[in-house]
Amino acid sequence: MSSVPAAEAIRLLDGKSTDLSAVMTIMNGAFSERYGEAWTRSQCAGILPMAGVSLVLAQDNGHEQPVGFSLFRTVADEAELLLLAVAPDHQHRGVGRLLLEQFVERARGLGASRVHLEVRDGNPAVQMYRRAGFKPVGRRPNYYRGSDGRQYDAITLAHAL
Ligand SMILES: CC(C)(COP(=O)(O)OP(=O)(O)OC[C@H]1O[C@@H](n2cnc3c(N)ncnc32)[C@H](O)[C@@H]1OP(=O)(O)O)[C@@H](O)C(=O)NCCC(=O)NCCS
Repeated sequence: MSSVPAAEAIRLLDGKSTDLSAVMTIMNGAFSERYGEAWTRSQCAGILPMAGVSLVLAQDNGHEQPVGFSLFRTVADEAELLLLAVAPDHQHRGVGRLLLEQFVERARGLGASRVHLEVRDGNPAVQMYRRAGFKPVGRRPNYYRGSDGRQYDAITLAHAL
């Protein structure tokens, strides 16, 4: 892990379908199979070409492959953060927060007046979202199914812009 603060070393770039392998590497490293939160390659491939969908990659100086990504969709005046992940070796350096802040700014720039997301109840990322101004507005029981078949609730977090 590098100790250089993310803000000084990270560039955020628009990604495209050809970045799918890099996205899957980050996703499979970051999400535990235990909770069933990760998307499959075909789910990602299916959504990337859709209208209003954006992929953003976090590129670290000196690293060929991206170290994090966000995937979001803007429809009319609402934007949904679909996925956010940072490779384990690059976590806790502020990369996730940068991606989240940029998602909110991009959504605002695209005319969104509200942003929202679903996250597993108990995921430590909830703290990050709450610090960024997101508030719980709903719960979806048994939304995620882990590799052992156990189910986990999702909470819906939203933030008015
Ligand atoms: C959630 C995730 C993207 C955060 O990325 P990161 O680069 O490590 O996050 P940052 O270093 O920017 O930290 C952001 C904030 O979240 C908090 N945080 C991040 N990971 C945390 C953890 N595992 N436990 C507790 N707090 C955590 C930090 O304290 C930080 O708060 P601060 O900036 O006020 O100090 C990363 O842990 C990840 O990829 N997790 C697996 C995928 C996932 O669950 N994504 C979210 C649901 S889509």
